Amino acid sequence: MATTKDQKIKEIVRERYAEVASGTGCECAETPLYTADEVQGLPDGALAASAGCGNPTALASLKPGETVVDFGSGGGIDCFLAARAVGPQGRVIGIDMTPDMVDLAKENARKLDLANVEFHLTEMESTPIQSDSVDVIISNCVINLAPDKEAVFNEAFRILKSGGRFAVSDMVLVEELPAEVVSDPANWVSCLSGAELKSTWVERLQKAGFTEIEFSSNGAYESEASWSSRVHSMSINARKG
Ligand SMILES: C[S@@+](CC[C@H](N)C(=O)[O-])C[C@H]1O[C@@H](n2cnc3c(N)ncnc32)[C@H](O)[C@@H]1O
Repeated sequence: MATTKDQKIKEIVRERYAEVASGTGCECAETPLYTADEVQGLPDGALAASAGCGNPTALASLKPGETVVDFGSGGGIDCFLAARAVGPQGRVIGIDMTPDMVDLAKENARKLDLANVEFHLTEMESTPIQSDSVDVIISNCVINLAPDKEAVFNEAFRILKSGGRFAVSDMVLVEELPAEVVSDPANWVSCLSGAELKSTWVERLQKAGFTEIEFSSNGAYESEASWSSRVHSMSINARKG
């Protein structure tokens, strides 16, 4: 059940990412982990709106024909990479809660003339996607933005097929951040306030039913702040049953 505080956080996040969609600023983005070959041919609008902290399709081992859902697809960059990997027999569904981002992603998809990618306006905590219908969930720097993470992991587990994979890049704490950093509302949109400890991720994933949970760090948060080494961009893999 969403609280007023949760709704307020979502409003702040939605407003900020509407600005990112219109080209004014970039929030979570860390050093890009895409190769020049991967991004070649993608529309400028998809690259400019890229606000991730990893490269989830690189860790998802996608196969032709698979169905992929991207939680918080933004301007669509990871969906377009996934679409190439799953090919014409596959299907990629990008979901995002910010209307301007969904519009931008659809415009980028039109430019690429891709028939196997679609974008929908919906929250990842509760999607209209059928249960047990998805091979892989990817997500790039989005789960930290959700106030109700239990709902996110439960939804991911619900829509994945048995044996389905969860392959996500996100900001993960190796040590708690100072209270004043966490309480600053501006730090929700910059992917810090909602970041959680690795041990909390493990607990949440296990509670939702995931197994084979693995983490690897892509490096510490890029900042001069004294606490920057406490938060890392991480790759997180897990499996449903
Ligand atoms: C940091 S950006 C990342 C976008 C994209 N994954 C990328 O790598 O460029 C976060 C995105 O997640 C979306 N988002 C945040 N919370 C969400 C939620 N609860 N459900 C769906 N989308 C959400 C925002 O609208 C925004 O487009």
